[in-house]
Amino acid sequence: MIKMGIIGFGFMGHEHANMMARLEEIELVSVCDTDPRQLADAPEGVETYTSADELLARSDVDTVIISVPNTLHLEMVEKCAAAGKQIICEKPAAMTVAEFDKMVEAVEKAGVHMTIHQQRRWDVDYRTMKEVYDRKLLGDVYLIKSQLYGFNGNMHDWHVYPELGGGMLYDWGVHLIDQIIQMVDSRPVSVYADMKNVINANVDDYFKILFEYENGVTAEIELGTYYLTPKRAWFTGGTTGSAVIDGTFRAQGNTEGKIVRTTHLLQSVPGRLTMTSAGPTRSFGEPEPGLLYEEPLPEVHTEHRDFFVNYINARKGLEEYAVMLPEVRNVLCIMDAVRQSARTHQSVKL
Ligand SMILES: NC(=O)c1ccc[n+]([C@@H]2O[C@H](COP(=O)([O-])OP(=O)(O)OC[C@H]3O[C@@H](n4cnc5c(N)ncnc54)[C@H](O)[C@@H]3O)[C@@H](O)[C@H]2O)c1
Repeated sequence: MIKMGIIGFGFMGHEHANMMARLEEIELVSVCDTDPRQLADAPEGVETYTSADELLARSDVDTVIISVPNTLHLEMVEKCAAAGKQIICEKPAAMTVAEFDKMVEAVEKAGVHMTIHQQRRWDVDYRTMKEVYDRKLLGDVYLIKSQLYGFNGNMHDWHVYPELGGGMLYDWGVHLIDQIIQMVDSRPVSVYADMKNVINANVDDYFKILFEYENGVTAEIELGTYYLTPKRAWFTGGTTGSAVIDGTFRAQGNTEGKIVRTTHLLQSVPGRLTMTSAGPTRSFGEPEPGLLYEEPLPEVHTEHRDFFVNYINARKGLEEYAVMLPEVRNVLCIMDAVRQSARTHQSVKL
């Protein structure tokens, strides 16, 4: 049984407590938040504290989940490491690569283990597209698009303040980049990015990031919090088909999508013109009946709980930790390159 404590019992802290209740081999024993109102609905039997030091003084707490705002991660990791606790820190692990290096130094000095809660590696839509890629269901892939669109700006609380680690690159960008880096089995050689403040004056609420990989794959990530056509979508194009996922966030098994293939490649474009709303065309006219056909996407069984199942198994030595610190550092370096590209309007070599 792994006894857990949570530092920062806000939105994500509560999510973690709900998750702990579903895990037989993890017991939540204490939570801490400087705002006592957040502690009012702590689960029964769980000790509550308003200071991290009090929680860390408990000898029965084995692992601490750090879910305070981003700018406090370094301070909390250093405290937890000094107290000899194992650490699961929320993403983005750190505000900068230099901060992250200090965190790693602290855990190495203390001889404790740290991992980062990149649970979106277990998203159903992502895993489905990764399966398509891994099983080479589309031949040679040339393009992967990962799109996330929301409405209402979707920015709240400390997320609207840059000095508190706000902005969408820190919030979702770190997940979307991590997914793409995990998915493509090649080295990204360059990145080009556009970042905007559409309706938030001080922090980014739109970005588009383009990666060029050594193996010829181009990957595009686009996020908009004020797109007003909300969806979570993927497109992967290969030499033997296209795969799409075009849905909102759905429960397991409800990922909307398909693989589309052609029975044969056209030797020449059709002789006749097709009139479209964009005017006459031959290349982009209607496909002849039977040319395109659809296949279902592979079924995957995954959920965010799997992050913790891996954690439990890794602690027992049964498997490797899924989220390793060099991978996390790499994503933070890429986020620096993304900012540099957006600032200079130039692509950045990685
Ligand atoms: N993995 C994910 O999908 C995911 C989703 C949301 C948030 N997060 C991350 O979780 C972290 C928290 O985000 P949130 O949305 O839960 O924020 P939140 O504001 O809802 O919660 C943060 C809590 O930390 C408390 N806090 C602040 N300073 C503290 C201190 N010194 N000691 C103890 N408690 C303190 C605040 O009172 C607040 O209740 C962030 O790093 C965020 O990026 C991750």
